[in-house]
Amino acid sequence: MTSQEITVALEVNGQTTTVTAMADTPLLLILRNDLQLNGPKYGCGLGECGACTVIIDGVAARSCVFPLAGAVDRQIITLEGLGTRAEPHPVQQAFIDEQAAQCGYCLNGMIMTAKALLDRIPNPSETQIRNELSANLCRCGTHIEILRAVLRAARQTP
Ligand code: FES
Ligand code: FES
Repeated sequence: MTSQEITVALEVNGQTTTVTAMADTPLLLILRNDLQLNGPKYGCGLGECGACTVIIDGVAARSCVFPLAGAVDRQIITLEGLGTRAEPHPVQQAFIDEQAAQCGYCLNGMIMTAKALLDRIPNPSETQIRNELSANLCRCGTHIEILRAVLRAARQTP
């Protein structure tokens, strides 16, 4: 079936924006190209690396394989919806404190996936964190620091 152009209202980071694009356009492209939200990264484009993760209705989702049509009437949060450079979200601050970055390309996915986990389970076990992040790839091998950062963020969750 061929896709059709649609005009929809998207709620992203608490703001509603009208977008016109083909119904099957990946949400990632809309976020980056139309809304200039470049927190979510293009990695594999196949739903396999996690670099493009956003939170949709409280659940971590891979925006590179999430069609625009499916994002209507959902609450979308991107990295930009967490904290700012001046006031980082506690999960972002924990990543800074643990120096959990080398190139940083995977961090959007790690942080958004961790945020969704901590919203669901404020005090996850190390095993739960490992399981949650197991499908988020880091080519730099920063896994130990990332794990420490999520554990630190969990300790700081009120
Ligand atoms: S870019 Fe979306 S999962 Fe890799
Ligand atoms: S820090 Fe480079 S991919 Fe994870």
